[in-house]
Formats: sequence, structure tokens, C-alpha cells
Amino acid sequence: MDIRLLHPSETPPYELLLLADPSRRIIDEYLERGECFLAEENSMIIGVYVLLPTRPETIELVNIAVVETYQGKGFGKKMIFHAIEQARSKAYKTIEVGTGNSSLPQLALYQKCGFRMTGVDSGFFIRHYEEEIWENGIQCRDMVRLEMDLS
Ligand code: COA
Repeated sequence: MDIRLLHPSETPPYELLLLADPSRRIIDEYLERGECFLAEENSMIIGVYVLLPTRPETIELVNIAVVETYQGKGFGKKMIFHAIEQARSKAYKTIEVGTGNSSLPQLALYQKCGFRMTGVDSGFFIRHYEEEIWENGIQCRDMVRLEMDLS
């Protein structure tokens, strides 16, 4: 798998980005403010993630997604480690990620990659999304915040 930056003339892979976030408006905001990386396997785009500077010395991993037929094969983990290395090489001190209270595999994955839970943004998905989100039989209401110290 190769990972590269999205070229400014390329159309972002919205279908893939929408797997991670159902809001096109929020995706466009992230693309505007962040850097979008594409993961390719045999010249086919199989993954995407965006790195978004948030506060001084802090960057957030947002919108990570792997094409459904390629999920569960270790590509997501490789992309997360790539994002961590990108953040480190740009001298950020902290990398953050947020996910839903109902996103159980994602909560497992981020912790397996070394992220630690730091807080809960209670009601985040109720405030920012018009449609209800349900996963694993749980309504997605709160955003669990995780971070990793890079210093
Ligand atoms: N309990 C424990 N571990 C779990 C788990 C669970 N319920 N569900 C998944 N995992 C683990 C797997 O065992 C694996 O870890 P391992 O390598 O130690 O075995 C890891 O999580 C999955 O790794 P990987 O195969 O690299 O993930 P992936 O390529 O499927 O990518 C996503 C992960 C989340 C990017 C991908 O599933 C996806 O695109 N989902 C839809 C979009 C999305 O939800 N994005 C995140 C928004 S916060």
C-alpha cells in the first residue's frame, strides 16, 4: 500500500469520506482546513484520511476510511501509523482523534494503535448532525476523545 497527498486538481473520494462521516458539509470543512491523504493498492484508492491542525502543536486525525471490501486486513492500522508519523515529522506534540460512543471497533482500533481516552464531548452528534446515527444497536450521541503524546 502506498500513501500520498490528494492532488489539488483531484476530486476528493467523497464516497469513501462519507463512510467515516455522514455530513458532506463537515467533510468539506475538514478538506478546506486539513491535508487529505489517499492510500492506494495496485493504483486503486482503498483508503483516505485527513489531518487537521486544531490548536498550536495539536493535530487531529479525521475522516479515516477504508473501502469496505478492504476492511479488516490491517490497512486502517497502517494508515493510522502513517498519520502519527506525519504528525511527528511536522513537530506536532499531540495527535487527537474522536469517535462515536457507538463506534466500538473504532474505539478498539485507536486504543490498539496507542491512543488514550481523554474525555467525552457529550451530545456532540446530537448538536452537529440532523439525522440520528445508530451503530451496534446504540445511538451515537457522544464523541469519545482520544489522544497520543508525540513528544
Ligand atoms: N474489539 C477489538 N478489536 C477490534 C474490534 C473489536 N470489536 N473490531 C475491530 N478490532 C480491531 C481488529 O482486531 C484489528 O486489530 P488487530 O490488527 O490487532 O487485530 C483492528 O481493530 C482493525 O484494524 P484494520 O484491519 O487495520 O482496520 P480497517 O482496515 O478495517 O480500518 C476503519 C478501520 C475504521 C478505518 C474501517 O473499518 C472503516 O473504514 N470503517 C468505516 C469508516 C469509519 O468508521 N471511520 C472511522 C470514523 S471514527
